[in-house]
Amino acid sequence: MIPAQPVYTVGVGGLGKRGMSHAETFAANPRFRIVGLANYGAERLEAAHQKFPDAFASSSIDEMLAQTRPDIFCFCTPPHVRLSLIEAGVLAGVKLIAYEKPMALSTSEALAIATLLRDAGVKSVVSYQHRYGEHYQKVKEIIASGAIGRVHTVYGHATGWMMHMMPHLIEYTSWYNDYSPAQWVVGQADGVEKFEDNHPSPDYITASIQFENGVRGIVECGAGAPDVPEVDYWWRKARIGAQGTEGFAEVLTGGGWRAVTRDSNGVISGPGIMDYAHDMPPYIQDIANWLDDPNRVHPCNGETALKGFEIMMAACRSVVQRGKVTPPLADAEAELEALRRALSHM
Ligand SMILES: NC(=O)c1ccc[n+]([C@@H]2O[C@H](COP(=O)([O-])OP(=O)(O)OC[C@H]3O[C@@H](n4cnc5c(N)ncnc54)[C@H](O)[C@@H]3O)[C@@H](O)[C@H]2O)c1
Repeated sequence: MIPAQPVYTVGVGGLGKRGMSHAETFAANPRFRIVGLANYGAERLEAAHQKFPDAFASSSIDEMLAQTRPDIFCFCTPPHVRLSLIEAGVLAGVKLIAYEKPMALSTSEALAIATLLRDAGVKSVVSYQHRYGEHYQKVKEIIASGAIGRVHTVYGHATGWMMHMMPHLIEYTSWYNDYSPAQWVVGQADGVEKFEDNHPSPDYITASIQFENGVRGIVECGAGAPDVPEVDYWWRKARIGAQGTEGFAEVLTGGGWRAVTRDSNGVISGPGIMDYAHDMPPYIQDIANWLDDPNRVHPCNGETALKGFEIMMAACRSVVQRGKVTPPLADAEAELEALRRALSHM
């Protein structure tokens, strides 16, 4: 007889668009059961509770975790709450914490998160679920097949601003470059208006990344980043890809993929659009796979996310200090404050 697979219990904190998308996807998978819900505001909490009436519901994440002791704590709050919620999950004894990008607002916070999770032996994943899109996967497949020759450049740009979009851009360009570590990063930025946003950011930022395998990364986002005219929906105006000695392959978040390869005889292309309904189920299934088997590490694991976050923070430090910044980064003044100060004087 095949032994029954464990069902993992899940508590979800922060029930906005992303929290509900996570809750619904966990609930649709028989490997998970929603046992707890928490949200500051009563309206969203009640709406979620109506969908999952068997779950314990509270306005307090701490209370929800204490009452339900879930295997998985998933939280989807705005970026200003990260470390305190990681602490809450660790304290509640969860096995895995699934949370949203950006993983932190500073290097110091990201390092504290990583240390806390490592010391407690708690797994973590950060929601880079775009990678499951068929167009994102197709580009990876073309690059990995060698059809564009030796990759020398990976690139990504988006019109959305840094704390929203740059973690995504760095993650997928790094994936297309087999996660070669960054040797150094040089950054430049402009504008302070978006520091007022709940995803505080310079209005525009660009980073040149030298990867250890010799590949150059070029990432830019915000006001002034190139448009992607093929895509109508503003948040999906992102283009990410690789150039090699014999061609290129790139994904448009809202507009499929295209490539020229050694054998393609012109441009080839195909469909694909960023779609939570398509991308979330495999992201969530990979959480069960990792909890079942420690060797099946989730592709969106927190240690990889930390390396990407460091590249973004290295770009911010470079704007302030000038010159090349070399990861791994040590604790320092919060990058956003230093960056805002530097850009305010320009
Ligand atoms: N991965 C992706 O593709 C993607 C897409 C969009 C947004 N995001 C990220 O998801 C996160 C959430 O985005 P959203 O649009 O769902 O946000 P939102 O503001 O709509 O919802 C967040 C919810 O969290 C609640 N909340 C905040 N702090 C809380 C706390 N301490 N305890 C209990 N409840 C709390 C708020 O009341 C709110 O209902 C952001 O970090 C954003 O960058 C990721």
